[in-house]
Amino acid sequence: MDELRYDPLGGARPAGATFAMFDELRARHPMFRSTFGEGFWVLSRYDLILEALQDPVTFSNAAVSVLDPNPRYRWIPEMLDQPEHTVWRRLLRPLFSPAAVNAMSGKIRERCTAMVDDLAARGSCDFVTDFARRFPTTVFLELLGLPVEELGTFLAWEDAILHGGSSPDRLPKRLAAMREVTGYFAGVVAERRENPRDDLISTAVTWEIDGRPVPDEDLLDLCLLLFMAGLDTVTAQLSYAFWHLATHPGDRSRIAAEPGAILDAMEELMRAYSIVMPARKVTRDVDFHGCPMKAGDMLLIPLNQANRDPAVFPDADQVVLGRQRNRHMAFGVGIHRCLGGHLARAEMRIAMEEWHRVIPDYRVPDGAQPMEHADLLLGLDTLPLTWS
Ligand code: HEM
Repeated sequence: MDELRYDPLGGARPAGATFAMFDELRARHPMFRSTFGEGFWVLSRYDLILEALQDPVTFSNAAVSVLDPNPRYRWIPEMLDQPEHTVWRRLLRPLFSPAAVNAMSGKIRERCTAMVDDLAARGSCDFVTDFARRFPTTVFLELLGLPVEELGTFLAWEDAILHGGSSPDRLPKRLAAMREVTGYFAGVVAERRENPRDDLISTAVTWEIDGRPVPDEDLLDLCLLLFMAGLDTVTAQLSYAFWHLATHPGDRSRIAAEPGAILDAMEELMRAYSIVMPARKVTRDVDFHGCPMKAGDMLLIPLNQANRDPAVFPDADQVVLGRQRNRHMAFGVGIHRCLGGHLARAEMRIAMEEWHRVIPDYRVPDGAQPMEHADLLLGLDTLPLTWS
């Protein structure tokens, strides 16, 4: 089996460089072993990725970062295996159903419109900092019934947990920030037990599993996961979408002129710029298509490797608005498929509609170079935009 030294953290690099690097890797290695850190396997083809994600017995979610194979934390439901995972998904499903998201969408649009109107008069902004991070974090605070004034604190925690970069102290810093988030949510859970309201945490404190109330510790593991899963993903996905549109005027003017094209365009942008790189822990010795995997090995599954596979998508490295049969897996596959998919799609659609209604014509200023990073997810650090 091929061996390479692929560093999953990498450093800052020009926007889009990681996708191009993965495209090259796929062309040469359908899978390989990275010798970085303790070493881990990397899958690079649609069919292999589909098969691995649909086999949760061989590929466990007990560890979901290739550099941290024996974590001391447990995000619920992401790091649960069956049958425990099924019980939690059943409890959570109604809170993220299309009906639940519809009920929130008026509020989401209101928040979005206010942010876009504020920015419009400025004539320029850094899209990542000024919009893509603030908007989903505000929606998340609404969802959990938390005060929107906490936005700054949440953004700082998000940075420490999700953007540690490759610095040697990233793990201790990540753990410290996770402890702070958990401490904060412990206060909220206690308060909602006393004074329930109409929000997610107030519902969650009423849940029972096997006839027993769900312990606080598990509720905190759930809150932490929702924090990790719901914020940075939408930020990163929106940032790549707007980077593409800002640098492809034909696609941008089509979207601005035809709001009805936004839904399909968003799916295509998610396919072409899939940001999530799930990982799994191998549970038994297995020969996976010639790969001698051992129990305890880690496996990295960059979803962009599946979604830009030319064997499945013609012109896979291009954004093709109006693409037919766009069966991408940007929200994952199998039992851990994204629980917040309806919410994420609503947030992104509303953001694209509201932004293009008010600011239809924008671009990256001359000489500016948007930069990206890779960690648990790919994302942009900066996206300077200007408009008249
Ligand atoms: C564009 C935005 C988003 C993308 C691309 C995305 C993508 C994903 C992917 C690929 C997974 C599967 C991970 C795996 O297989 O290990 C996942 C899981 C999950 N996502 Fe999302 N997500 C997004 C937004 C959200 C939002 C807004 C929420 C809710 C607040 C959310 C909640 C979750 C949860 C709870 C899981 C774990 C599901 C489970 O383990 O059963 N996601 N997401």
